Formats: sequence, C-alpha cells, structure tokens
Amino acid sequence: MNLIEEKFILQNNNFDKNIEGSFTWRTPSNIALVKYWGKQEPQIPENASISFTLDACFTLTTLEYKLKEHEESGFNFEVFFEGEKKDEFKPKIETFFKRIEHYVPFLKEYEFVIKSRNSFPHSSGIASSASGMSALALCVMSIEKKLNPEITSDYFYKKASFLARLGSGSACRSIEGALIVWGNHSEIVGSSNLFGVKFPYKIHENFKNYHDTILLVDEGEKQVSSTVGHKLMHKHPFAKQRFLQANENISKIAEVLKNGNLKEFIAIVESEALSLHAMMMTSKPYFLLMKPNTLKIINKIWEFRAATNSNICFTLDAGANVHVLFPENEKEIVNNFIISELIQYCQEKHYICDRIGLGAKEL
Ligand code: PMV
Repeated sequence: MNLIEEKFILQNNNFDKNIEGSFTWRTPSNIALVKYWGKQEPQIPENASISFTLDACFTLTTLEYKLKEHEESGFNFEVFFEGEKKDEFKPKIETFFKRIEHYVPFLKEYEFVIKSRNSFPHSSGIASSASGMSALALCVMSIEKKLNPEITSDYFYKKASFLARLGSGSACRSIEGALIVWGNHSEIVGSSNLFGVKFPYKIHENFKNYHDTILLVDEGEKQVSSTVGHKLMHKHPFAKQRFLQANENISKIAEVLKNGNLKEFIAIVESEALSLHAMMMTSKPYFLLMKPNTLKIINKIWEFRAATNSNICFTLDAGANVHVLFPENEKEIVNNFIISELIQYCQEKHYICDRIGLGAKEL
C-alpha cells in the first residue's frame, strides 16, 4: 500500500456511531474518449483514460443506515432496484464492501438498505456499473462526513472516486465533471491510478455543451462482460502496443481539448473506439460486441460527414450501442440527420439524448 492509499484509511474510528438516517446521490454515467481496457489488481488501469461525464443517464441511489442492534461479523444490507428487492445484486455489492472496508471501517457496524434506480432503461445495454458504483461510494462518503465533518470537500470527492474505482474501474470517472482523467500520465498534472481527476487545463469553448446521443442498437445483456474482457488483455499479443497508443492519445487529446481542433478530436475518438473493439476481436478467445447495425450507423456517419463537413463523430463502449458526439452549434442539423437516417437502426427506434454534464449531486 502506498502513501496515498494510506491517506484514505479512516484513521480514527472512535466516533459516536449512534446515528441513523439516509443519503441520496444522483450520479451520472460517463463515456470514455480514450479508453481503459486492461488492468492489474486492485483495479489499477494499464493506461490513462479520459471521459466526458454525462448528464441525462444517471443512477439515483438512497442509502439508509442504522447502527446494528446485535453484534454480527458480516455486512448487513438489502438491495432494492426500481422498487423491487434484488438479491441477485448482492454479491457484487458484497465484493465492493469487502474491497473498501479497510478504508471505511464503520461499514460492518451498520445495517443498510440500498434503494436504486436508473434514468435509462435497465436492459438498454448502457453500463450502469459506473453510475451505480459511484452513487454508492458517494453515499458511503456522506456517512463518513457525518461521522467526521472535518474532512475537506477535496478529500471527500477524491476518496469517493477512490472507493468507486474499487467497485468498477470506470466508476471513478463518474463523480465530477465535465472531463475526467483516470490513470497516471506525465502530461496531466495530478493524475493518478487510484482516482479520477478533473482535466486540469482550460477546455476550449467548442466542447461546451457537447452532445452525446446514444443509439440503442442492441438492448440486452452483453455476451462478454467487461471483467472478462479486461482479463483477456493479460496475455493479449497487442496489449503493450495498445497501452502505449492510449497514453499517446491522452497527450494528443489533451492538446485538442485546449485548442478546440474538432477534426483532430474526431480522429482520436473514433480511432480509440475502433481500437478498443479491435482488442476484443484479437483476444484469445476472440469476441465481437458490434452488431451489423453498429457498422451501418458508423458508415452513415462517415458519409454524412464527408457530404456536409459536419463535426459529428462516434464512439463505442463495450457493446453494440453507438454514442454520437457533436458540438452544440450543430445540434439542429445533426439531430435531423439522426432522426431521419440513424434511428431506423436502433432497437425499437430507441435512443437517448445526452450531453456533457457536471457530475454527481446530493439530493
Ligand atoms: O469499468 P469497467 O470495468 O466496466 O470497464 C469499462 C471499460 C470501457 O467502458 C469499455 C472503457 C472505458 O474507459 O470506460
């Protein structure tokens, strides 16, 4: 354990614990521009990544807590998702609690009820682990703050991101906004493998209110989970090169975010999306998460861009859905294009209009 990790251990656990109550956080999803794919224990990324924090796609979580009446060695919690008791969600949360217990030793002293819901449809193929884990991490931090009001806001958010990372890597980028870097990078001051940090330089006006319309090509469970995908990077023949490429793309995109060069932005972002999927296709065993309609959409976007000189571009998550990115000043023309040309490729014409957001909010 290094010095920074030690700083996140709650040193004095002798607070008056006899409090009960609840905290509610609304935390956004995020979309990576330079992707994280490949990690070491404990959730240490192989390369730096950067994401837009989203706004309309969020998780709303309430954590109710009460001091346990009887001594008991394990964690005690119930989970409700969209009003229904969900025991199948418990193992993931149990693992999360085990990983963070060292840093928040009061966890076993309480019984919890976790009530959560997403703004996006459950089966939409949009990963809810980033927003879900960051919401829970923030609720836990609110309890820590209640026990120890001395902690600074900087410590609160850093530790929330640190805890969220231990739940799901990319969740550490779902605490603040609008652009978050996670992973040590020599050109990003303050960057860390342990938590996400705000992009520390002035962001060009072109990225203000940037849009992300998510085209739901395939609503449903992915055939291969991110956990499995990350593991397949361990013996991947191109892994070393990929991690170098991603770190170089962080340097390039950092310049672009400062100078506003949208053509360069497009080149980096689309190459990152395809490189991520290329890693999947060249893993052993190989797998493919794109669907025929994913490719149809990508080709339509390229045709439209060639014909109009628009700054529309796409990125992909670990799934078939397409994130269509475009600047605020093109919203009318691009929205018309999406509706007339692209939504026919979505499952039941489902899509979500989102944009760059400012981060989590306590309610
Ligand atoms: O946070 P995880 O373990 O679900 O991994 C997410 C990885 C990608 O979404 C594919 C890329 C990223 O950087 O968000």
